[in-house]
Amino acid sequence: MASGGIAHGASLPIDRLPFGFRNGGIVGTMSTTYDSILRLRAIRKYADSPVEPEDLRRVLEAARWTGSAKNRQDWSIIVVEDPEQMDRLAGCAPFGGPLSAAPVALALVQEGSTYGFDIGRMAQNIMLAAAALGLVSCPITLHNQEKAVDVLEIPEGRRCRYAIALGYPSPSSRPAKAGGRKPLEEIIHRNSYGR
Ligand SMILES: Cc1cc2nc3c(=O)[nH]c(=O)nc-3n(C[C@H](O)[C@H](O)[C@H](O)COP(=O)(O)O)c2cc1C
Repeated sequence: MASGGIAHGASLPIDRLPFGFRNGGIVGTMSTTYDSILRLRAIRKYADSPVEPEDLRRVLEAARWTGSAKNRQDWSIIVVEDPEQMDRLAGCAPFGGPLSAAPVALALVQEGSTYGFDIGRMAQNIMLAAAALGLVSCPITLHNQEKAVDVLEIPEGRRCRYAIALGYPSPSSRPAKAGGRKPLEEIIHRNSYGR
């Protein structure tokens, strides 16, 4: 049985499970990696409490272990906790409200020629590891790159296009109603795109 008495393979579609069962941070714990993946949602509201240093360290450790093409590990992470710096960072993102609300943000720096694929893997690892530790998170696009480079003092030749807002859930933490996913039939092709 998964947490909260929901059996693996239960007939309730994940979209219809109460939020508590979709995210281990709120009710119960995630029982398997598979469940964790299906239950992960972007959460934009956070408890008004700092992230425990040990939880943050473990999230960063999960990020560090992300695999990358040719094992380049061509990345670094800027941990933003200073509230004023957080507001400046939020100002780099038109949809950056979660940053202002969060106690921690991890800004993902692509060093040199990092593949977007690699940094995406790291972002997902961060979000899944955070969820396993009872944290909630939201990816944020730093659309205003010029400003982001300036605010984060990114040296030339590097990019920082994404940040992850992190925090413990508050009682009002809920995933946005919009969400859900396209059905498999809409996104899967067999052997070539035409079929
Ligand atoms: C690459 C990427 C960039 C995103 N940027 C933002 C953002 O700037 N602001 C925000 O509130 N959510 C952002 N999100 C979160 C998505 O809006 C969210 O994952 C999507 O709506 C699905 O919601 P769900 O994960 O809760 O089902 C981003 C997600 C991804 C993958």
